[in-house]
Amino acid sequence: MGDTVLSQFTQAFDEEKKISGRKLKVGIIGCGWIAEAHAESYKEMDDVEIVAAADLIPGKAEAFCARYGFEGVHFYPSHKEMLDSEKLDAVSVCTYNAQHAAPTIYALDHGVNVLLEKPFTVTLDEAVEVCRAEKRSGKLLSIGFQPRCDVNMQMIKKIVESGALGKVYYIQTGGGRRRGIPNSTFIEKGTAGIGALGDIGCYSLDMVLNAVGYPKPLTVSGYKSAYFGTNPEYATPDRFHTAEENAARFGVDDFAAGFIRLENDIILDFRISWAMHMDTPGDTIILGTKAGLRIPSTDCWNGSVGGEMTLYHDLAGVRMEEKIPILKDKSGHGLFYKKIRGFLDAIIDGTPAPVPSSQILYNQAIIDGICKSAELGHEIEIRIPEI
Ligand SMILES: NC(=O)c1ccc[n+]([C@@H]2O[C@H](COP(=O)([O-])OP(=O)(O)OC[C@H]3O[C@@H](n4cnc5c(N)ncnc54)[C@H](O)[C@@H]3O)[C@@H](O)[C@H]2O)c1
Repeated sequence: MGDTVLSQFTQAFDEEKKISGRKLKVGIIGCGWIAEAHAESYKEMDDVEIVAAADLIPGKAEAFCARYGFEGVHFYPSHKEMLDSEKLDAVSVCTYNAQHAAPTIYALDHGVNVLLEKPFTVTLDEAVEVCRAEKRSGKLLSIGFQPRCDVNMQMIKKIVESGALGKVYYIQTGGGRRRGIPNSTFIEKGTAGIGALGDIGCYSLDMVLNAVGYPKPLTVSGYKSAYFGTNPEYATPDRFHTAEENAARFGVDDFAAGFIRLENDIILDFRISWAMHMDTPGDTIILGTKAGLRIPSTDCWNGSVGGEMTLYHDLAGVRMEEKIPILKDKSGHGLFYKKIRGFLDAIIDGTPAPVPSSQILYNQAIIDGICKSAELGHEIEIRIPEI
């Protein structure tokens, strides 16, 4: 099996370099679970060479690259040593949330383009610092929202932009799992920083904010709780911890909600859950003056369209319900491949980032606003500093 992967990889490298005239030198920072999806995609690209990998855990980067048959890779104990030593075109930042900002800023300051996994950061302050680093570097930063590459998600934006809904004035979004608390580094304050709110909430926010052109958030009244993650009856065991231990480690939210006023007189009603006594906290609905759109939720909310959408509108005085079937992706590639390819093509072509930080800054401002408002117990104004 390993040999097959290795020889496929070598063959791919022997092919004509297609786009840039040379292979892009890429490093991977953080060789955990999601880095696997990056590695799988990079492996398919014959104009990419994985030249460096870093992980805080000794031996992890080495084992990771061996699994994917990446040869001649230089290994480092953290992002700093890697970026101080290597001349890279790009890095995938696949670290846990609390380590998103530091490696991204360090990479940008070293003149390296960055594909940063979602959520953007833990706090708005960190996101602002990352945006400033991007600005002073002149390099490209794209945030890893692969649902943007989903044809059905793109359809939502097309429907809004077609004008079929008229003026959008109210959006209800969110999603949730009846039981779906992840474990590992997702549940500790020190590594994750935020829970369901950041992990899957960022997808719900992006789904609708991207569709309506990312209006600026103005105020938020937020709520968050952790009744399930902290309870051994509901916490999930993993390879290294019992349910009791994971309940004790749990330091983030497992449910969050927010009522947000957006620019252009739009109200956003949001809720997200890793665990609850309900199948879903509701479908996404976008209400406009001419029509309303219902987007069914999924059982395991991960930012996808859960079934055929329905457009509600009146036609010559008759109330219509139009079904929008689920579209099949004909590209032959998965969402991760497409998100990484889009990032690399933007570097090669000198085009804007596929998922720009200027948009996701607003996504992060809402997440941050929900946390702050929840702590204070009242609505707050969202203030986004100049970049
Ligand atoms: N896009 C998606 O669908 C998706 C899915 C899952 C996770 N994620 C995101 O990916 C990120 C990582 O998740 P994961 O499940 O892979 O976590 P993980 O804990 O399995 O892996 C993170 C790795 O980063 C390493 N690390 C941390 N700081 C480092 C540093 N400064 N330098 C080098 N290595 C460092 C850790 O040692 C760890 O091995 C999270 O932010 C998560 O939200 C995205």
